[in-house]
Amino acid sequence: MQNNAIHALAKLVNRALSKVQTGSSSQDRAAHDSVERAPDGLPIPSEPLIKLVAGPRAGISWFLEGGRRGAESIVEILERNGARFADLRAILDFGCGCGRVIRHFSSAAGTKFYGADYNPEMVAWCERHLPFAKFTSNGLGPPLPFPSKKFDLVYALSVFTHLSEELQFRWMEDLSRVLKPGGFLLLTTHGESYLGHFSDEEKQQFRSGKLITRGVANSGTNTCSAFHPPAYVRAELAKDFQVLDFIPEGAKGNPTQDAYLLRKPPLSTRLMTVGSNAYKSY
Ligand SMILES: C[S@@+](CC[C@H](N)C(=O)[O-])C[C@H]1O[C@@H](n2cnc3c(N)ncnc32)[C@H](O)[C@@H]1O
Repeated sequence: MQNNAIHALAKLVNRALSKVQTGSSSQDRAAHDSVERAPDGLPIPSEPLIKLVAGPRAGISWFLEGGRRGAESIVEILERNGARFADLRAILDFGCGCGRVIRHFSSAAGTKFYGADYNPEMVAWCERHLPFAKFTSNGLGPPLPFPSKKFDLVYALSVFTHLSEELQFRWMEDLSRVLKPGGFLLLTTHGESYLGHFSDEEKQQFRSGKLITRGVANSGTNTCSAFHPPAYVRAELAKDFQVLDFIPEGAKGNPTQDAYLLRKPPLSTRLMTVGSNAYKSY
């Protein structure tokens, strides 16, 4: 009888110990989850996620350095156009991937950061490891799960480069919807610097101002590519925006893509230009 009691007690102790060893307390779960951290203290994503956002040859150092340059160039492009990044209250990283760029804003105070992506695995990683921002996944096509006129800035780095023409137009409309009047949209595209990758026919098409797309059946992935002549962006894609700036190969974090800074017209301009359509919802 005494032996049975000792056995029962030993069983209980063993069960408790094995719970601790298999990490059922939150402290132990954190230890199991431990991932490599960058000098900024934030975790580093797995190699496959890094390659999906930064290219097949990218490693950790380019993931961090390219992301830093991307973030820096957003601030610079706004500032050279008279807008202070620190004055923006709500910013969306559209196509945020595994947070390569947004992570560099982790200590920006006074601004709310959001990320959205079509790939739920990327979003799950961001939600778990970048707690300073809010992340959400979206469909291949619009809409985003945000109310209209929420953001001061939306940036989409190397996202329109992977969408069919139809999806690009639909996204421009939805990004305009979620921007405040007067809000900024910063886009990067494959421009002239990619001419070397084209067939003669494609070169001619590009030079005559036509969008070139490949693999549109795989829109939203890196196997779909779009190449934007600057004239096409101004006349077609960004036709409902003011084009504040165009910087050939200006996407420092996504070399050698072009960068465009667009602005959703402020309400007063819209009222003057759209006349009887002034009450259309934007
Ligand atoms: C080349 S990666 C760039 C990621 C990130 N912007 C960066 O520069 O590190 C393209 C990203 O766009 C995302 N994407 C593609 N289509 C999308 C869509 N329709 N909506 C949201 N994200 C999309 C992909 O899932 C991927 O994370």
